[in-house]
Amino acid sequence: MPIIYHETSREFHLFNGTTSYVIGELVNGHMGQIYYGKRLRDRESFAHLLETTSRPISSDPLTEHCFSMEFAKQEYPCFGTTDYREAAYEIQQTNGSHITDFVYESHKIYEGKPVLQDLPASYVEDAAEATTLEITMKDQLLNLKLILIYTIYEGRPVITRSVRFENEGQETVRLEKVMSLNVDFPDNKFDWIQFSGAWARERTPVVRSLEGSGVTAIESMRGHSSSQQNPFVILKRKNTTEFDGEAFGFSLVYSGNFLAMADVDTFNTTRFMMGINPRNFSWKLEPGCQFQAPEVIMVHTKDGLNALSGSYHSLLQNRVARGYWRNRPRPVLLNNWEATGMEFTEDSIVEIASKGAEVGVELFVLDDGWFGVRTEESGLGDWYVDKRKLPNGLKGLVDRVHDLGLRFGIWIEPEMVNPKSDLFEKHPEYALMTPDRRKSLGRNQMVLDFSNPAVVDCIYDQLMESFQGIELDYIKWDMNCSISECYSPYWGPDRQGEVYHRYILGVYRLYEKMIERFPNMLFESCASGGCRFDAGMLYYAPQAWCSDDTDAIERIHIQYGSSYGYPISSWGAHVSEVPNQQAGRITPLKTRANVAYFGAFGYEMDLNELSPEEIETVKEQVKFMKQYRELIQFGSFYRLSSPWESNIASWMVVSPDKKEALVGVYLLKTDVNCGFTQLKLQGLASELDYKVDGDLVFGGDELMEYGLIPLIAAAHPKQNEYPYSRPMDLCGDFDSKIFVLKAE
Ligand code: DGJ
Repeated sequence: MPIIYHETSREFHLFNGTTSYVIGELVNGHMGQIYYGKRLRDRESFAHLLETTSRPISSDPLTEHCFSMEFAKQEYPCFGTTDYREAAYEIQQTNGSHITDFVYESHKIYEGKPVLQDLPASYVEDAAEATTLEITMKDQLLNLKLILIYTIYEGRPVITRSVRFENEGQETVRLEKVMSLNVDFPDNKFDWIQFSGAWARERTPVVRSLEGSGVTAIESMRGHSSSQQNPFVILKRKNTTEFDGEAFGFSLVYSGNFLAMADVDTFNTTRFMMGINPRNFSWKLEPGCQFQAPEVIMVHTKDGLNALSGSYHSLLQNRVARGYWRNRPRPVLLNNWEATGMEFTEDSIVEIASKGAEVGVELFVLDDGWFGVRTEESGLGDWYVDKRKLPNGLKGLVDRVHDLGLRFGIWIEPEMVNPKSDLFEKHPEYALMTPDRRKSLGRNQMVLDFSNPAVVDCIYDQLMESFQGIELDYIKWDMNCSISECYSPYWGPDRQGEVYHRYILGVYRLYEKMIERFPNMLFESCASGGCRFDAGMLYYAPQAWCSDDTDAIERIHIQYGSSYGYPISSWGAHVSEVPNQQAGRITPLKTRANVAYFGAFGYEMDLNELSPEEIETVKEQVKFMKQYRELIQFGSFYRLSSPWESNIASWMVVSPDKKEALVGVYLLKTDVNCGFTQLKLQGLASELDYKVDGDLVFGGDELMEYGLIPLIAAAHPKQNEYPYSRPMDLCGDFDSKIFVLKAE
């Protein structure tokens, strides 16, 4: 049993092969945190690890003990007693008080992992994969229960946490803050890494030191997880690198407003917490009702950031993503958005799709513009086909695309409505907007009130009607407007603090309904690209359009940054035209593919505009991707050289048996007579010899310990050729190369 309860010390030890997490009851009955880190040998008590120094000018809840919550490391700290740091939760009672006192009541330990009602979460397929601990705490006065839920996986350095409140009392209370977890670390020698950005420059790693004191925080209040901040944070030790050292990861399995914060006190301890953003959150918990908070997936490693990422890749890919496409190589697709925008006809689409069929594409995706009276300011909310563009209906087009031997996929944006639409005219109350106030529009659209179940059902029914009799294989689910002036006409004034959370629960409900109806559908989530790219979404859609920026050089950064917390299979990556529509940059067709291979690969252009030579190249690219997609999308991924720190960016994937690997190298700008570079590879077998590009043979040990560049350069001297000293045999701005390694 990887969770032991020591009755005498009243301590819990959660452990697996790599990780230990120790919790114990404090003298006031609250739960204290004793240890989180590398696996420790079990013992009856670890209480000696808790520092219990008495300190002047602190308040003491139990006069007979010299004990203040201000200096106790806690599991789920409360507000307003003797702890003046951030609280993990706050509850307003009918008398106006926020003071609570949850003390240990009971616990249970069981094999497996519970499903979280209405929420995405990691799961097990076999109960033996994980063990769960539920500790029930009770506030006697309110007869309110707080369940602290922990699951430790057997073969992974992963612990998941969440909490649930159950109101067994007579009084209605208001949950004003419910964090999913709190971890009190005994020191502050951490770098905090967040993944920040904006539209088209998502998930750039930003490092902030926690040394010193005060609050470090990121959040979203947009109604979706956002491209500004991602609900994934790493705390790493100062000397931790990609390949070595300690780090802790926290990934919130949630797609709405969130908060992640570290509160470092003046005694050098770090309090980390993460969960639903408490701003504008107020949940009315009536007698007999429960509130379940979303889950946080925690990973601990001593082996560097690549190891931490690898654990997330494996868990998110295999135990968060679900369904038919979870472990299946993804089809090579062609999307018409950058080729046509909303301006197309049945014939123009078939012409684009035909060229796709010729080069070996497998799936054609019809993007925005096929429904309602769709323009940039109208149509959203009206999910019936626009017969002006598609006179033979969706079926007419789908049949022609199928006749080309392609599968068919379609774009939807179900959470939105344009003021110019039949839906808004008929049901203005279906949109989120504050009575008698100005309503801001984003992209000429408004967000539908998905906290109202009737709205979710209305959109579902419309979509089902439109898709009747059509064979669909893929749905791109877009979301292009943040929530503003949030107010639900459906809920009363006392429930408005629940709307943001209920909105995202409505999104999850529509996903569930669609998945139930189309169990083999490949869903790709999207929110103006990567504005809702989080672990919660992966539970419903195993891949996401991770950025609207399709420029190859920008994409190196975005995919590199995304890989810290998310697997390669979780993002779409497409080759698009040049000059690139977002960046205006011209990059070689080769490099555009060399970047897009590392994702769910496709094209986002009218291939008819390419020259015959380029079409031959595209055919080769599609063939290459089909040959290696299983390795790329489901192998072990390693970051080798950061585009923010080096002129040569690089990453690689290795097959599970370590017999095959691909290394992608990208020259960001040309470099003349440059210095030597050692590109040390990762994850190979030291004892195996690898043929590189079907040519030279190197030892796995050499490739990992010495590196790839000098060996390749030595074997192919170029010193008498112009230009001189090409790094990695690359030449010119934006050149790139994929090395194929095969064990002998
Ligand atoms: C935003 C998406 O990110 C694009 O790929 C495209 O689908 C447009 N929306 C369509 O409106």
